[in-house]
Formats: sequence, C-alpha cells, structure tokens
Amino acid sequence: MKQGHALFVTGTDTGVGKTMITGCLTALLASCDYNAVPYKPVQSGGIRMGDTLVAEDVAFYQSIHPLPYGQDELCTYCMEPAVSPHLAAQQTGVFIDPECIVRQLQVLRKNHDFVVVEGAGGLAVPLYESEQGIYMTDDLITRLNLPILLVTHPGLGTINHTVLTAKYAQARGIPILGFIVNHMPQQPNSMERDNVRMISKLTGLPMLGSFPQVTDTVPEVLSLQLDELRKQINLELLLERLKQIETGLL
Ligand SMILES: Nc1ncnc2c1ncn2[C@@H]1O[C@H](COP(=O)(O)OP(=O)(O)O)[C@@H](O)[C@H]1O
Ligand SMILES: [Mg+2]
Repeated sequence: MKQGHALFVTGTDTGVGKTMITGCLTALLASCDYNAVPYKPVQSGGIRMGDTLVAEDVAFYQSIHPLPYGQDELCTYCMEPAVSPHLAAQQTGVFIDPECIVRQLQVLRKNHDFVVVEGAGGLAVPLYESEQGIYMTDDLITRLNLPILLVTHPGLGTINHTVLTAKYAQARGIPILGFIVNHMPQQPNSMERDNVRMISKLTGLPMLGSFPQVTDTVPEVLSLQLDELRKQINLELLLERLKQIETGLL
C-alpha cells in the first residue's frame, strides 16, 4: 500500500506560527511537485458560523493552497470552546478517539505524497482525560509514529521554551527533524541571532529555516511571496532527515 511521507508540526506554544508554517510548507512542497496536504486532527476554538463550526487553521490552509477537500477530511475533531482540547472535548461531550485520527491519516497518506500534520498547542497538551489517565499530544504523535518539526521564535524566552520542548520529545523517544524559526526580523539583533545559535548548540538540532516576520498575513499576499519564502526554508535538508528517520538511519 502506498504511504506518503508525513510529519507532525509542533511548537513551543500556541500562537507561535504552526498554522503559518503548515500552510506555507504544504504550498512549498506542492511547488516542488509533491502532492501535499495538511491535516489538523484536533482543533479547539472553532468559529461558529450558523450551523457550522469552522476550523480556522483549515480555512487558512485552504486559502493559501487549493485543496480537494472540505473541512471534515482535514480536521477530525473541531470543537468550539477556545480552551485545551481535553476541556473543549469534555465541555462539548466529544470523545476524541485516536484511532479515528490514525485512520484518517492513513487515508490521506494513501492518496498523497506528503501529509503535514498540525498539532494543537505544544507537545504537553492533553487531548482527553479518562479513567485510564490523560492522553497527551505526545501520545498521539507516538501512536502516529511521526517525527516532529519544531516551530519556534527568536525572541526573549525562546531558548528555554525550545530546549524544554526538544528535551520532552527526546525523553519520549520522538524523533525531531529540526526547528524552524518563525517571526524572524529582516535584520535580527544580537540577542535574536544568539538565541538561534544557542538553540542549535543546546539541542544539537539543525535549523531547517527561518520564516520572516511578514507585514501582511492575508493568504493571497502570502501566496505571492512563496518564491521568496522558499529560499528561507531548507527543504532539501528537511527531506533528507525525514527519509533518514523513516529508514531508521537517524
Ligand atoms: N511570520 C509571521 N509574520 C507575521 N505574523 C505571523 C507570522 N506567523 C504567524 N503570524 C500570525 O500570528 C498568529 C498566530 O499564528 P498561527 O500560525 O495561527 O499560530 P499557531 O498555529 O501556532 O497557533 C496569526 O495571526 C498569524 O497570522
Ligand atoms: Mg494553529
């Protein structure tokens, strides 16, 4: 059975730019002839529009790159409360079944060369609570057997957040492709440059790209900048490391 590549985009925190990177990475892969698709298994903070609940992240993916799907195929659980998924699920009576996510990812991998999966928040985010315990985002990543791509920022506090996230993943045996620094200013100051250097040194991970702080995040404007953005992301290294992890070499 055909199985496309897949990776899991996580970040140091919510709001760091996972959706931005997931959407743009999908579009960049597509421009390199990969039949790529994004996937958001769990979204809280869905936006109510009449009878429907819109998963904002999926709406962003769809507007930056045309996708042959509606929201349901690209987001398995969309919940309205803008709180941690475990609480949103509890408040709305949703049962998050990781096996549904496993199956949907399989379907997407069967039909695409590449699936870019976006997590909700960071790694230590609870997805549901039951009598058996608390099922965490890192449990889902382990179940899906995916390596992570870590999105971070260059500002104050990033060394601590990024190193902790990398160590948490490593402690759980989750392979890390590398990190992408989002919100990178045109001319980073000495602290921002040193933060990135320190993250590389302390984690031993490669920086797979920096993503500029953009003034206009409207998808139509971003689409026009993809050629420029392409130069900032080291897709070759990302793909090389992904293949090494998939074949057990890394
Ligand atoms: N590089 C960037 N430049 C400017 N704004 C950005 C950039 N990356 C993300 N944003 C904005 O920051 C907010 C959070 O980004 P998002 O990708 O949704 O984060 P996450 O998915 O990690 O929660 C959004 O409003 C998005 O448009
Ligand atoms: Mg997001």
